Amino acid sequence: QTRPMVDQFARRITYLRLSVTDRCDLRCTYCMPEKMRFLPKREVLSLEELERLATAFIARGVTKIRLTGGEPLVRRDMMELVRRLGTRIGDELDELTLTTNATQLADHAGALADAGVKRINVSLDTRDPELFAKLTRRDALPRVLQGIAAAKAAGLKVKLNTVALKGTNEGELPELIRWAHGEGHSVTLIEVMPLGEVDGDRLDHYLPLDAVRRDLEQRWTLTPSTHRTGGPARYVDITETGGRLGFITPLTSNFCAGCNRMRVTTTGQLYPCLGGGEQVDLRAAMRSETPDAALEEAMNRALAIKPEKHHFRIDAAGQEPAQPRHMSVTGG
Ligand code: GTP
Ligand code: 5AD
Ligand code: SF4
Repeated sequence: QTRPMVDQFARRITYLRLSVTDRCDLRCTYCMPEKMRFLPKREVLSLEELERLATAFIARGVTKIRLTGGEPLVRRDMMELVRRLGTRIGDELDELTLTTNATQLADHAGALADAGVKRINVSLDTRDPELFAKLTRRDALPRVLQGIAAAKAAGLKVKLNTVALKGTNEGELPELIRWAHGEGHSVTLIEVMPLGEVDGDRLDHYLPLDAVRRDLEQRWTLTPSTHRTGGPARYVDITETGGRLGFITPLTSNFCAGCNRMRVTTTGQLYPCLGGGEQVDLRAAMRSETPDAALEEAMNRALAIKPEKHHFRIDAAGQEPAQPRHMSVTGG
């Protein structure tokens, strides 16, 4: 018997994003500084705690779980978690999936498919080896492309996430989309969000997606699609490439009215919104004397405080009111 989670704006929460590590083997310049400080391991939720949280959310009507990071596959027991949660696909979960940078995907694609994962999201901002090395500060493009190929070979559906960056991958976007669609992958473009401090100024590379869309419309026929994954993306089908393209536009167009998700950080903080606001400490609840009751209370509290919308914006003054948490801690 499930007790649905419905917030004060009548949004039903059915999607949980669970960050399993804040660590990453890349250092994307818009995501983290080169000298990123990672959390001590003892701060991070254990495998048992992650499983317990998944169970608590499933009992409250969550049907989709996405494992995120950081890079989820750098966590040593990640595949064990996938196997355990994988047994719940079908009756309790409609979908178990992950968002990965694919550097280690070639080693795990087969096991992911065996555990019941059907589709994965892969972050890929460029297919140019030099730009990749500059953007991620690591020379890993060949491994990433091998990982994507292995996922396809294992029968996983792949969605590529591409952060659109002015003066960086801007000119490459049509070619990247054409290539991905040719491979049978869909692509979603993302506007860069002010999350956590980085070495440079993200604003220098902010590219509004309405402009990108107009540019693509000069080239191809874009037809709005009714396709929805429950995520923030809005999709179009492209006639000429035969593929699907999504737009995630936190800055130019707000999609929060349809929000169906909550996210748990690596340390068990439940954030009702990526854009900030109050959080709820699920780790403390789980480690208390009465964990079941405390968890229940914490989840109800999160529902009560889930804000109507995020407040990301690019200031007229060009100031970026940064949100202190990095994407790699919250998991997107
Ligand atoms: P599917 O719709 O299942 O394919 O996934 P998704 O788009 O929800 O997940 P994914 O991990 O691919 O997320 C892509 C990006 O969307 C994230 O990295 C974030 O940048 C952004 N995103 C996801 N959820 C939210 C949200 O609630 N608010 C905002 N502002 N951005 C989000
Ligand atoms: N703004 C937008 N997207 C970001 N990502 C990481 N940091 C940011 C940011 N500040 C993206 C990654 C990946 C997804 C999980 O989040 O590129 O595709
Ligand atoms: Fe790692 Fe993803 Fe951040 Fe890049 S965007 S540094 S791959 S967590």
